[in-house]
Amino acid sequence: MSHELTLLPGDGIGPEVTEATVQVIEAAGVDIVWDRHRVIGATAVERGRPALPPDVVESIQERGTALKGPVTTPVGKGFTSVNVQLRQRLDLYANVRPATSLEGLDTPFDDVDLIIFRENTEGLYSGIEYFDDRLDIADSIARVTRRGSERIIRFCFEYAREHGRDHVTLAHKANILKKTSGLFLDIGNDVAADYPEIEYDDRIIDNLCMQLVTNPERYDCIVSTNLFGDILSDLTAGLVGGLGVTPGANIGDELAVFEAVHGSAPDIAGQNVANPTAMIRTAVMMLQHIGEPDAAAAIEGALFEMYREGDVLTRDVGGNASTSEFADALADRVAHHVEA
Ligand code: NAI
Ligand code: MG
Repeated sequence: MSHELTLLPGDGIGPEVTEATVQVIEAAGVDIVWDRHRVIGATAVERGRPALPPDVVESIQERGTALKGPVTTPVGKGFTSVNVQLRQRLDLYANVRPATSLEGLDTPFDDVDLIIFRENTEGLYSGIEYFDDRLDIADSIARVTRRGSERIIRFCFEYAREHGRDHVTLAHKANILKKTSGLFLDIGNDVAADYPEIEYDDRIIDNLCMQLVTNPERYDCIVSTNLFGDILSDLTAGLVGGLGVTPGANIGDELAVFEAVHGSAPDIAGQNVANPTAMIRTAVMMLQHIGEPDAAAAIEGALFEMYREGDVLTRDVGGNASTSEFADALADRVAHHVEA
């Protein structure tokens, strides 16, 4: 079966890690016709186009699924994050970010297996910001809605039920943010009652961070509002080997955009040293989503072998292979898995 999908290589390390990923998907024998869009973010703005060009949005709306590399966002000024715009425009309300220990990687814990479910369209990312330059006062509005909260919390419980996971933790700061976090927590308590077979609890975000860096194996599914979910997912990436190995997905009711947790990593861009594992595991999630479970399993199996053996790994995880050396070795192995 042939698939038509959108490919957004992004910028920084994006083109390097997406190219590696496409190579590995091809080795698995999946037939994909990619609609590639390289002009996005700063590249688009330089050409006098909107940071998120309409043809990118249309391509994903038509094809339903995209694989996306990171796109740089200017800090403190400039255009609104393309990543955030895309999630909001396409209503990709669930940001799913698994953090699972990789056998063979030397990390402080070896039995982490949790997933962050981050609300992806509102909260402190709603874009409602004011600056009063007379008084030098800045305000950001965290908009939390019943509809937005209920759908991400339900998504998390449904995912848990479907995947045989038995514990959901809701992360909040309802002691201080009594309205916004308070609403999110109230809705969580209500929704949890519909899933009696799933253990449910809540944690105040700061305490949860401390718990996660001391006893991460106690956690399973964690659901939270946008900013808390963003921060938590970098934290949990750090528990299992870092941003180079942790995948992610933005899922809505109709559309899905698959992208890793990491950003464009300008510090290592263009050097052929980035770890494509996060992007490749992101592609594994995508292949499961588009109904290619065998290819997903072949890639994941080969990847796990590479980490167990530890001979060809990138430098962020203690090896000295380049991005392309890692991709070549993995693609070879995937091709053997598929033939076998
Ligand atoms: P970052 O995730 O790009 O980098 C943080 C650190 O992790 C850097 O030291 C980097 O070298 C390392 N790293 C990240 N991915 C790696 C990989 N695959 N292999 C090896 N090392 C890796 O975060 P940072 O520096 O905060 O953000 C850089 C830019 O990326 C910013 O403009 C930010 O807005 C953007 N960004 C974009 C995202 C997206 O497109 N979804 C997500 C996060 C950030
Ligand atoms: Mg982030």
